[in-house]
Amino acid sequence: MSTNQPEHVAVIMDGNGRWAQKRAHRRVWGHIRGSFVVSKIIRKASDLGLKSLTLYSFSTENWGRPSGEVSTLLKLLKKFLIRERSRVITHQIRFKVMGDYSSLPAETKELIAELEELTKDYKGLKLTIAFGYGGRAELVGAVNKWIEDNPGKKIDLNNLEKNLMVPDLGDVDLLIRTGGDHRISNFLLWQVAYAELVFTNTPWPDFTTKEFEQIVDKFRTVERRFGMVDHQKSLKESMKKAATNKKRFFSREIQG
Ligand code: IPE
Ligand code: IPE
Ligand code: MG
Repeated sequence: MSTNQPEHVAVIMDGNGRWAQKRAHRRVWGHIRGSFVVSKIIRKASDLGLKSLTLYSFSTENWGRPSGEVSTLLKLLKKFLIRERSRVITHQIRFKVMGDYSSLPAETKELIAELEELTKDYKGLKLTIAFGYGGRAELVGAVNKWIEDNPGKKIDLNNLEKNLMVPDLGDVDLLIRTGGDHRISNFLLWQVAYAELVFTNTPWPDFTTKEFEQIVDKFRTVERRFGMVDHQKSLKESMKKAATNKKRFFSREIQG
């Protein structure tokens, strides 16, 4: 059996609120506990040799939550940035935040900008935090950027990808959602086209590096076909082969 090394893993870190409520705590307690799990998973991702880790931390829709919960989540982001800074630098992690976070406090935005600038050429794990992120908004943004730069021209697959929020983020190989729900909730709609989807009932505050490793190990044994009939190395290769075969097929049809 062939083995795959996932390059890009994305995680929907869900189940914080219910975890806390089950323990008769306020929902925000779940977010606080969950934020420590984030640090452990980042470390594990580097150890497992992943190239990219993208974490869904706050969606465009999450702005609609009660203001106390939103303000705790904003504070936790700031604390996370301060706490992880030195570890990010030591491990040469390329750090980025994707999403519309323009309404964050100026101090938090400065912390993000400073860490992004400092780590932009680092060659370690590409760590991307999706904050104020929505997959639909990302796609609309990409198309609008294209129209602005290329009035009157049609957009194609490559150019759409080039205009996404983080153009070199690439396809997701493995998407994990904790918390028991089986949905995408507007996360990386473009990038998950051929991702393996893993849903675990474990709420995010209980998610361990051991479970993370088990999920990654299981991924290694999955046969990814990308629309073909046998194992294919990548979606790009599969698309190229499909296009060549299609051309060949039609020229044969025309020639009779
Ligand atoms: C995920 O946990 C964190 C965010 C969405 C910010 P939730 O807060 O959604 O927790 P549940 O799903 O309500 O338990
Ligand atoms: C998705 O979780 C967003 C994050 C984990 C940041 P939600 O809890 O917001 O998603 P729904 O409401 O269950 O779809
Ligand atoms: Mg949730």
